[in-house]
Amino acid sequence: MRKALILRSVVAFLIGVGSLPSSTCQTYDEFELTPDQAPPAPELVTARNQADSSLLWGTYRPQIYFGMRPRLPESILMGLMWFGVQDYRGYAKPRHECSDQDRLEGYSWKYHDGRTFGIQEIRDVENNYLLETSFLKTLPGKEELLGQGTGLKGGSWGARISGTVLDPQIPAQLTTFWYTALESATGLLGLENEEEEDGIPHSESIKLAGSVSGLGDFEIRIEEPLSESGNSNVEGNQHLGEGRHASDFQDTIGKTHFVGRKLRTDQTWRGKDVIISEINEVLRSTLERYGQENMPAPGLAMTLPDEVASASNFYAIQKTFTGNFTFDIFFDSSTTPRAERLSSSGLTQGLKASRKAFDERFESALPLHSRGYTEKPIEFARELTSSLMGGIGFFSGQGIVDRSFAHEYDVPVGSGELDFERKSEPDPRLTESESLFTATPSRSMFPRGFYWDEGFHLAHIGAFDNDMSLEILESWIRLIDEDGWVGREQILGEEARSRVPKEFQTQYPLYANPPTLIMAVTSFIERLKAKSGLSDAFDASDQQHIFSDSADISDPQVMSQRFLESPALAQSFLRSIYSPLKSHYQWFRRTQRGEIKEWDRHAASRGEAYRWRGRTKDHVLTSGLDDYPRAEVPHTGELHLDLMSWMGSFASTMQKIASALGEEDDAEEFQSHYDGIVANLDDLHWSEENQMYCDASVDKDDQSYHVCRKGYISLFPFLLELVPSDSPRLGSILDLLSDPNELWSDYGIRSLSIKEPLFGQGENYWRGPIWVQMNYMALGALHRKYAAQPGPYQAKARKIYDSLRSNVVRNVQKEYERTGFTWEQYNPTDGRGQRSHPFTGWTSTVALIMAEMY
Ligand SMILES: *[C@@H]1O[C@H](CO)[C@@H](O)[C@H](O)[C@H]1NC(C)=O
Repeated sequence: MRKALILRSVVAFLIGVGSLPSSTCQTYDEFELTPDQAPPAPELVTARNQADSSLLWGTYRPQIYFGMRPRLPESILMGLMWFGVQDYRGYAKPRHECSDQDRLEGYSWKYHDGRTFGIQEIRDVENNYLLETSFLKTLPGKEELLGQGTGLKGGSWGARISGTVLDPQIPAQLTTFWYTALESATGLLGLENEEEEDGIPHSESIKLAGSVSGLGDFEIRIEEPLSESGNSNVEGNQHLGEGRHASDFQDTIGKTHFVGRKLRTDQTWRGKDVIISEINEVLRSTLERYGQENMPAPGLAMTLPDEVASASNFYAIQKTFTGNFTFDIFFDSSTTPRAERLSSSGLTQGLKASRKAFDERFESALPLHSRGYTEKPIEFARELTSSLMGGIGFFSGQGIVDRSFAHEYDVPVGSGELDFERKSEPDPRLTESESLFTATPSRSMFPRGFYWDEGFHLAHIGAFDNDMSLEILESWIRLIDEDGWVGREQILGEEARSRVPKEFQTQYPLYANPPTLIMAVTSFIERLKAKSGLSDAFDASDQQHIFSDSADISDPQVMSQRFLESPALAQSFLRSIYSPLKSHYQWFRRTQRGEIKEWDRHAASRGEAYRWRGRTKDHVLTSGLDDYPRAEVPHTGELHLDLMSWMGSFASTMQKIASALGEEDDAEEFQSHYDGIVANLDDLHWSEENQMYCDASVDKDDQSYHVCRKGYISLFPFLLELVPSDSPRLGSILDLLSDPNELWSDYGIRSLSIKEPLFGQGENYWRGPIWVQMNYMALGALHRKYAAQPGPYQAKARKIYDSLRSNVVRNVQKEYERTGFTWEQYNPTDGRGQRSHPFTGWTSTVALIMAEMY
């Protein structure tokens, strides 16, 4: 009945003959040059190529519980899926993409260094299993690298899936699937079997072999490790043999099952659907044979068909277990010498050693032990950091952009500066295919790139791995288009789109988002100053510092700070992002400009006023604080305090880069923008009557007025450190912040004062709930400036800093322990975690708060 599927000859052809495209050395990181840009410095090219090899493979599919893919578009992807086989219902609840509906009691990376290894725990209580998924990459050492030239790709890794029964009193049976799919139409992938008469692989070891552009030839092994008593899974498998009709399945009990299918390349991400429909087919024929009342034990019947269709580009390997289990997956590119390929015992040892090395490195990156923290909170911070790393993904595909729609009030009449022809009807279109390497806010709810979150992610990632934060920053900067625009939500490809409601899929080139990427740039410059003594500009003599092009790419710590160690490299990097970042800055100034003289407003600077485009009556999604109350109706005369503050911060960041690069004229211009913004904040946004900073709008009589709502928006000039430390206005801000009847709570600062009429109303997204990244900003401002600089409010700032810091840390940790998750936001009255979870994006900045790294 079973089809023999010996693909040996095909695979031999693939691997041996070498007439197929072997590892092409082209890097995906081609530098795009605009006419006025010099070609990148050679040391930058070398460093980037090495980074490419070091970061080639990873858990870059954070949208599923566990998957691996290379950081290459149209390559291959792999993933894990499982369900319980205690009864037939388990099959209706497959676990694959991260989802709240699976009701897992937490899934988080206990360790993840972003480059070489990670260990994740998944508590699947419904199925009575604790799953551990881990991976370990083996990267070529310095010596080999020298031998292989700079275009090195390929790489090798091992992954381990283990299941431990949570409650031994309750039976536990699980079936697991590991799939591998080719996204590329030109690659090849085949199953290589031991030659058995019936075509069923009797050994539990299975091999796939293939070839794809960018990776070259490779082999994938799926093996069950041997323990002292032989295969540790065998005993459990014997239980399967005790089920109903077991004798009919004698030959296949406990065996590995498989299927190979040919899919359209744009459908290869649908691994789960393919597997489910295969199982469905098999179930249908089992049902025909036995009848509903007389079905065999589910663990026996719910199997893949052991068939491979011709020209298959999708393979799933199934293993069913009773009790504890372990199996490993190994990927080896043909460039990895045989002697260096991982085995199960090597994987065990490697994971253990990496764990130890991580702990040491973690303390040096985020000093917590030395701040008096004990084991438990350190573990908490380590898990948050690891989960953020484990949330990093590589996405590619087409996005959707509408280049002509705009609200009438978005484009002021007579605005000749904008090259934009407004249409009031939607006209969404697919873009060219793009790629993005990015962290993600939430693996279940928001598994894709979000511009406004990214700056916070990068602050945290950069504290642990500076160079990784630059890689990601560079990837975002690459998305800045010729106008200087970048979409705020990056939904690239069908898989990403499948997770987003239709009304949120389209991006608009007039719409902005808080420019948090500048936080990553500022932190890099700060780290550089701390490390190499960069004062203002790079010292010409620093150029003598030769960049070593033989870095040990297998050492994650070395790879994490090469751009800090070499001023030449740092300067080349800043130079490479300077021009796109400047165009991005100018795009903000051009498209988000607010009106001053049109409404007879008096301000020191004529040009500095800003307004978010794309608002509706109840939302300013572009501001990032969606439903925070603003003026009642949208108006072309509105001025938004938060955007004004962001632009001040942007100007100051641009000034810093320009100075570091010796672009004196630019630096001066940015400085004058900054000064204008600081002056206009007081002239346009300070309400003497309310003693607070406010938005502004225009009433029916064309009179400008302030729109004052106590909450995060009113804090922005303070959050972004634009208020001088001796300003009396700082006093009122600190009063508002520290008043328990307004913004202060035992769990952090609330987004809206409890005295505001709209507190807790409507969607209640930004109308009271506590957001950790905003508290991180407040703590940063206090730590760096207001509690640090002498002035009339220093003592008060110091006091607020200490209690706010301990409140936020205590509550997020308490909720993590109580629920197994970090949360998107926390309740403003009782501190409970709410909305999306796990929210391993900016909520994890709490680890930086603990380490006082802002
Ligand atoms: C399963 O693994 C757990 C944790 O290692 C162990 O305590 C338990 O004894 C194991 N169960 C069996 C049946 O081996």
